Amino acid sequence: MAKHLLIIYHSKTGKNGRMAESVNKGACHPDVDIEVRLLRAAEAGVEDLLWADGILFGTPENFGYMSGALKDFFDRTFYEVEGQVDGKPYSMFVGAGNDGRGALAAIRKICIGYNFREVQDPVLIAGDLKDSDLDRCEELGLAMAAGIDAGVF
Ligand SMILES: Cc1cc2nc3c(=O)[nH]c(=O)nc-3n(C[C@H](O)[C@H](O)[C@H](O)COP(=O)(O)O)c2cc1C
Repeated sequence: MAKHLLIIYHSKTGKNGRMAESVNKGACHPDVDIEVRLLRAAEAGVEDLLWADGILFGTPENFGYMSGALKDFFDRTFYEVEGQVDGKPYSMFVGAGNDGRGALAAIRKICIGYNFREVQDPVLIAGDLKDSDLDRCEELGLAMAAGIDAGVF
């Protein structure tokens, strides 16, 4: 039976949306047998986290932190899934204006609370999005999907 990859992201002006589409494209590679859910953070909830065998979080950096929408997702789900998601592998992608490190650090800290395991280096794009950046997003999606499918994470 195919395993499950959840991609949760927020985007206000479209950059992280384009990144998420590329991550999704990589994850849906025909050689990988995995079911993928691509959801905006505001639409995702407890059932999605319980369903997932691995998770990719995507967000802009706002005021040195993750977007409020992604933080809200964490706030809405933490107690409900506590103890049921231990060890799930995750990684991140952040499309920021000129930094992005605050968003990555904030997600990492929260993921320690969930007992998730970071299994891939994040993709951090500060500034304009280039085709090569979208290629990196695609590679991240493929690497997560292939790793989960193969059971290496
Ligand atoms: C309210 C607000 C705060 C922001 N704060 C930061 C910040 O602290 N660091 C940074 O690198 N970019 C910051 N930015 C820029 C966004 O991260 C950047 O424009 C990002 O690409 C937006 O992603 P999106 O197009 O997916 O919405 C901020 C943007 C807004 C609207």
